[in-house]
Amino acid sequence: MDDIAWGTDAELTDEQFYNRDEEILWIKNILETTSKGSPPTIMLVGIRGVGKTVLLKKIKKELESDYLICYTDLSATSGYQMGKLTEISIMEDLFDCWVKEFRGRKLPTTHKKLSKLLTTKNYGLKEIIDIGGYPIPIPQSEDDYKKLSKFVLDLPQKAFEEHSDKIKGVILIIDEFQVLKDLGGRLEAFLWFLRSVIQNQKNVAYVFSGSLTSTDSIVSKIAGGEGAFGGRMLNVEITPFTRETVKNYLKEKLPSLIFKEDGFHRFYECTRGIPYYVNTFAKLLKKDVQLGDEEVRNEFYRTLPFLAVDLINQWGRLSLQEQTIITILIDKPLRRKEIAEKLGVTTGSLGAPFKKLQERRLVKSQEGVYAISEPILKAWLVKEHKDKGVFPFRST
Ligand SMILES: Nc1ncnc2c1ncn2[C@@H]1O[C@H](COP(=O)(O)OP(=O)(O)O)[C@@H](O)[C@H]1O
Ligand SMILES: [Mg+2]
Repeated sequence: MDDIAWGTDAELTDEQFYNRDEEILWIKNILETTSKGSPPTIMLVGIRGVGKTVLLKKIKKELESDYLICYTDLSATSGYQMGKLTEISIMEDLFDCWVKEFRGRKLPTTHKKLSKLLTTKNYGLKEIIDIGGYPIPIPQSEDDYKKLSKFVLDLPQKAFEEHSDKIKGVILIIDEFQVLKDLGGRLEAFLWFLRSVIQNQKNVAYVFSGSLTSTDSIVSKIAGGEGAFGGRMLNVEITPFTRETVKNYLKEKLPSLIFKEDGFHRFYECTRGIPYYVNTFAKLLKKDVQLGDEEVRNEFYRTLPFLAVDLINQWGRLSLQEQTIITILIDKPLRRKEIAEKLGVTTGSLGAPFKKLQERRLVKSQEGVYAISEPILKAWLVKEHKDKGVFPFRST
């Protein structure tokens, strides 16, 4: 067994977790202000695979004995999975998450308190079913949704007040925040609502995290000057490992992986220091033999289907037109007009597909020029085309 995790592992052992000491210390110190009654709101961003989730889970583990901490991944909620993320599904997911956390902690009176709270006139949710000893409210109307939301968002503060003798504060971590973009026109209202409820909480810290970069529009909607959280949000961006870090990391964790100078150079080029790729590729490479540029390059093409699993998944969810746009961009970046011409459609009709491709971070645009933003996806498509003569388009 080596000390390198697979790219899909969400929880790393201490031996597997590398680097990030500064980021962890910074975030933990800031979160600790919660215990003084001035909880922060943190926005943690960084590209897919850079290590946000494992970092958050590590912080959760380290603070768990002092704080009640709930971690939720919005992309794993049933609403999002079924292609329909709604405010209600988010609230139900959050409620679920808290209940699991309370149960894990064996915080005693919570069940009775919860049912009582739910039916007080503040919330007045009538339809409540009992699931495994916990009350689950069933919202019936728009009005119920508002009550449920208020209830769910008030819950952590209430939990703190009930258990302040045992915990220093409460922390809610909301991962894959960017999927909220699916709320479309209702996003802004949702964010302002969220802000209005949480801004008065004295003992609850919030950490939002997403596969975004600080230039993303949703980030400014939240954390920008005009955004729902104004200047109150603390931003942290997690960046890929540097060349030096990757070199030391592999030397320490996987000494049987031996690179020639140009082999390592190629390895870094292929993975761009993104831990997801670094780990997956390192584990798949041959051990105990010297790897030069050519060996690494060949292995990269051979193992692409493994490196790209997540991206292949996303590719499969695109429409035929969206897939076609990506393949058009393989040779070189193009303007919208040029893409429209190749597709034989008007530029106006490309608004929706471009929006989706950019939101999924598969395509990026700079000064009106569109390009594929995931080199690994591009490499996989080129390989597929070379091996099979056609691109792996969806058949319907
Ligand atoms: N600090 C780290 N040390 C070692 N491996 C890491 C580290 N951060 C990330 N990884 C590797 O990258 C993978 C993806 O990390 P993850 O946190 O899921 O990325 P993100 O949430 O940013 O998309 C992990 O499963 C792990 O294999
Ligand atoms: Mg993640």
